[in-house]
Order: sequence, then C-alpha cells, then structure tokens
Amino acid sequence: MRLRTFHAISATVITSYAAIHIANHLAALGGTATHIAFMEAARSVYRIRFVDAVLLACVLFQVLSGLWLVARGWRQRRGTVSWLQAVAGTYLAFFLVVHVSAVLFGRLSLGLDTNFYFAAAGFQVRPFQLFFAPYYLLGVLALFTHLGCAAYWRAKSSGRSSPFLFIALPVAVGSLVSLVIVLLLAGVFYRAEIPPEYRAIYVPRA
Ligand code: HEM
Repeated sequence: MRLRTFHAISATVITSYAAIHIANHLAALGGTATHIAFMEAARSVYRIRFVDAVLLACVLFQVLSGLWLVARGWRQRRGTVSWLQAVAGTYLAFFLVVHVSAVLFGRLSLGLDTNFYFAAAGFQVRPFQLFFAPYYLLGVLALFTHLGCAAYWRAKSSGRSSPFLFIALPVAVGSLVSLVIVLLLAGVFYRAEIPPEYRAIYVPRA
C-alpha cells in the first residue's frame, strides 16, 4: 500500500514533466525553431539542478518500484485492465531507462545539445528508424495507457458509469499524439536539415 502511494506521487512529478515535454515535441508542428524556443523556455525550469535531480531520482524510483509491483502482483493478476497496466508499465520502465540514459550520454559524454536534432537524427539514418519509430510510438502510448488504467481503477472504485472511457480516451489521444511526434521526427511534415554532429552519432565521421 505504502509503495503504491509513493509510486503515484513520483508518477505525478514525471507526468508533469512529460506533459511539458510532449507539448514541446508537438510545438515542432510550428517548425524546429518553435520547438527549440519552447525547449529553451521549459529548460529554464527543468534544468535547474535541484529540479533535474528530483526528476531523475523520480525516474529511477518509478522504474524500480514499478517493476517490483509488476513482479509482486504477478500470480494474483487477473483481468484485461490489470494486465494492460502491467504491460504498459513494463514497457515504460524499459523506455525510461533507455531514453534517459541516451539523453544523459548525449549531453554529458558526447557534449551535444539534446534538442530536436538529437531525437530526429535517428530517423534520418537507415536502418535506425526501424528501431526509433516503434520505440517512440510505444513510449508515448505506454504513458497514456498506463495513466488511463490508473484513472480506470479510480473511476471504478468511485462507482462511475463507463469506467472504460477512462482508458479508451487516453489511448485514443496517446495514439494520435505519438503518431504526430514520430511523423515530425521522421520529416514527413517538413524535412529538417540535421547538423553533422548529430548524424555522426549513427554514421561515424571518417
Ligand atoms: C516521441 C517521444 C519523445 C521524444 C522524441 C523525446 C525526446 C527527448 C529529448 C530530446 C530529451 C532531452 C531534453 C533536453 O535536453 O532538454 C528528452 C529528455 C527526457 N525525456 Fe523524453 N522524449 C519523448 C518522450 C518521453 C516520454 C513519454 C517520457 C516520460 C514518460 C520522457 C521522459 C524524459 C525524461 C525524464 C528526460 C530527461 C530530462 C532531463 O533530465 O533533462 N520522454 N527526451
């Protein structure tokens, strides 16, 4: 019971960041300059050392506590929603570990500004888009689905009619949002010129 409460508190921190983060990626609909201007403004908050440290600590706690909750409840798990929540949460744990490690590696080890080009570079060098397209699509969708399942349990316990809507709506919105972000990164709406230092992550310079 205690662990679930902390898992929910930490989820609130990550979801607040993710809401700004996803809006930031959607801002690329207005062009890469709009995306980067949005990012600079948002960074003035989430790049404050204390805020960044709290966010990263929450990510670590979320992954460990989430995987523990999935493992602990494995045998008692019954029903579609319960399994959907566990599967979405497990993918989210994988996504967060890979995603945040890649961002920290890009920032601290490669010395790159981890902006739009950092994410888009993986879509413009074959065959890496075969990994990045499903990886990002499922990452965003898993977040919306996992939160939708939590909303479903709350709706159900408070006796609301049609609790399934609390999952269906986030899944529909998450599918659309993730598709738009991936199409933006893949250069379907417009082709962004990727600076050579970002392409070099995938194509080592001679
Ligand atoms: C298609 C979807 C996504 C893309 C393209 C993407 C890309 C990025 C990029 C480029 C950064 C670096 C930001 C910066 O340097 O200011 C970043 C950081 C991060 N992202 Fe994502 N992201 C996506 C989805 C998500 C989701 C769904 C989550 C959470 C569930 C998430 C969690 C994080 C976290 C925790 C950081 C590290 C923040 C920090 O400490 O600076 N991302 N992402």
